[in-house]
Amino acid sequence: MRVLLTGAAGFIGSRVGAALREAGHDVIGVDVMLAAAHGPDAQPPPDCHVIDVRDASALASLLSGVDVVCHQAAVVGAGVNAADAPSYGSHNDYGTAVLLAEMFAKDCRRLVLASSMVVYGQGRYDCAEHGPIEPLPRSRTDLDDGVFEHRCPICGATVAWRLVAEDAPLRPRSLYAASKTAQEHYALAWAEAAAGSVTALRYHNVYGPHMPRDTPYSGVAAIFRSELESGDVPRVFEDGGQMRDFVHVDDVAAANVAAVESEGTGFDAFNVCSGRPISIMEVATQLCEARGDAAPVVTGQYRNGDVRHIVADPAKASRLLGFHAAVDPRDGLREFAYAPLRT
Ligand code: UD1
Repeated sequence: MRVLLTGAAGFIGSRVGAALREAGHDVIGVDVMLAAAHGPDAQPPPDCHVIDVRDASALASLLSGVDVVCHQAAVVGAGVNAADAPSYGSHNDYGTAVLLAEMFAKDCRRLVLASSMVVYGQGRYDCAEHGPIEPLPRSRTDLDDGVFEHRCPICGATVAWRLVAEDAPLRPRSLYAASKTAQEHYALAWAEAAAGSVTALRYHNVYGPHMPRDTPYSGVAAIFRSELESGDVPRVFEDGGQMRDFVHVDDVAAANVAAVESEGTGFDAFNVCSGRPISIMEVATQLCEARGDAAPVVTGQYRNGDVRHIVADPAKASRLLGFHAAVDPRDGLREFAYAPLRT
């Protein structure tokens, strides 16, 4: 198939491009080479057109004969403050809107969209007595007392996490999450109006070789990895019991290949995860043990707005896309302990 790949120079996009080519697809890579992501002097990889997805005419010239667009280009992170809002809105949402309009004009009706677990907000929880509940926000008093679990809104007991499936309500809690949710909504509306098909892939915590170094927009894997490289030990917030799903970038690439090759109709969304939940403490411990460095430090500090647990249900992607992650995070994180980072 002929695939237009946006964000082709990025940490995830470059691996998606390699996997698509290996699977025999004809890939046209585009990337705007944002300095915030690539540094001021970075050169695009060979075969990558330097194009902004907000530039309709530049896109139009590349879309002829394209069977499917694989849209990885995005401004990432959680957003540092409100000043980031125009950037998320412009690159992620306006960019997607332009892309969808040009796809329509060029009769390309199939989109694979990089989405994120952040669209779910704070995950799903069960009360031992009241079953599935929407938990209360964590109170400052609890957090200061070292009570990090959410509480049941009916009885006040602490609640347990459960797997998040794709039918969970979308409750974005950050600028980035708002932009990813809006991307999904634009894509869904386009699929209906244009009789197109969209596969939204909701990535969980992605890690792997050539991940960007620690920045104010980085997730915890890059932060821990950068701390170790500079001779510090990982600083684990709360009690380290926060649960996540860490998925290797090569598995994310494989999920994209499966989505590109699938026969989707309308809009559908899938968790892209390893299916092997892991605590933040274990992430830090695996990295430290692999390097033979000192153990992580549990600080008991907390960050406002952090999600306590968010753990993906892998069943739908397995059933409908045939996607099964190959890399167990306990192995992948040990390899990541020494993997090169992007400067
Ligand atoms: C992260 C990203 C999110 C992305 C998602 C999936 C950020 C801020 N969040 O969400 O945008 O879509 O992964 O890839 O980029 N922690 C520590 N020590 C630290 C830093 C963090 O213990 O030095 C803890 C946090 O308190 C939190 C957990 O690690 O409990 C995960 O943090 P982080 O990776 O920043 O956020 P996610 O919610 O997983």
